[in-house]
Amino acid sequence: MSKELTKEKVVLAYSGGLDTSVCIKWLQNEMNLDVIAMLGNVGQEHDGLEKIAEKAKMLGCVAVEVVDMVDEFASEYLTCAIAANAMYENKYPLLSALSRPLISAHLVDVAHTYGAAYVAHGCTGKGNDQVRFETSIATLDPSLKVIAPVREWDLGMRPDEIAYAKANGVPVAQSIEKPYSIDDNLWGRAIEAGVLEDPWAEPPADIWTMTCDPVDAPNEPTYVEVGFKAGVPCSLDGAKMPLPALIAQLNGIAGENGFGRIDMIENRYVGLKSRECYEVPAGLALIQAHKALEDLCLERDVLHHKLALEQLWADQVYNGRWFSPFKQALDAFMSSTQQQLTGAVKLKFYKGGCVVVGRSSAAALYDAALATYDNDDAFDQKAAKGFIDIQGLSLKTWATKKAALEAPSQSAAFDVVAGTQPVAYGKAVNY
Ligand code: ARG
Repeated sequence: MSKELTKEKVVLAYSGGLDTSVCIKWLQNEMNLDVIAMLGNVGQEHDGLEKIAEKAKMLGCVAVEVVDMVDEFASEYLTCAIAANAMYENKYPLLSALSRPLISAHLVDVAHTYGAAYVAHGCTGKGNDQVRFETSIATLDPSLKVIAPVREWDLGMRPDEIAYAKANGVPVAQSIEKPYSIDDNLWGRAIEAGVLEDPWAEPPADIWTMTCDPVDAPNEPTYVEVGFKAGVPCSLDGAKMPLPALIAQLNGIAGENGFGRIDMIENRYVGLKSRECYEVPAGLALIQAHKALEDLCLERDVLHHKLALEQLWADQVYNGRWFSPFKQALDAFMSSTQQQLTGAVKLKFYKGGCVVVGRSSAAALYDAALATYDNDDAFDQKAAKGFIDIQGLSLKTWATKKAALEAPSQSAAFDVVAGTQPVAYGKAVNY
């Protein structure tokens, strides 16, 4: 058998960019592996997956797998994110964090198909994405070995990488210095690095591609009615459509009105703070609408506890624990709260803003007869007195006793009984 045939295989998550292209060569040259490139479509901007697949073949990959993940991303990942009103640190709708476990699951599948012992990704050692890939892969198949070339290679900074690329026949575009690091998918775009590393510097206009500057947005508001079925967005202005199409259409409407930008300082799982900008026009609007429908339909205790669990869900997903049993249990809770969540929410977009201006559902727990201040009020106002007396009884008892203990005559009486200093709140008392 020739030596070539005995090579082990690695499946690489390939984007077509410089880093992952150099990864192909590095895995071949330094690790002596046969490289299978996996190219995932998660709804990102790209200039042709076929072209990228060609590039992978040109770089000597023994196989290239192009996997369309958009429908699965929407139905298995974004629906869960919407159910959990996914928002890390109450601001970041988790767009990159949501795509990593999906891509990881397909890497594992492709590795199994080809009998590969290794999988590889092009993440650096400073970010969250390496954690998400490797934790997901370890959970799905603990026997697979992960290689992270960018973290391991000694190519130092960009110039060394470019030199290695050129020496190994990796095409290097003329204007290689991309000013930002960008990750995008159906849910939105993440933009970091470059001038954004200065938290004081206003994001330059050229980082935004999905949203216009609110200053340039139309002077008239745009209204959109979002329909939900069991918690999942299913229609816009009454027109039913699959989730990916709905998100794409709403991205257009929200973006034209300058809505969907985020500029934040974020706590990465690896311990550092980073400045991140995001564009998530449809995502932010859908979560806002979804919350409004929940306000209308969820029983109070469910809603209140859900708010707390949503934070835990977001932390799990941000920290790469998509496939954890805890995250699965949280999903089960979220899902049980969504069954009756069918209805519509009216959104008003205007000059960079999006507000909920109406909500309606057959499952609404809002009862106009109870809420009204009109004559046909069904709420028994007289019964409120008994409710307040009983619910406040423990406090009333406590306050009464406190006042008695603090009264001068009573303190003296206690002194006689206990033979100690007068009782003083906040001070040590010896009996
Ligand atoms: N900070 C975000 C996260 O951890 C976005 C990371 C996006 N990656 C990038 N290469 N821009 O989810």
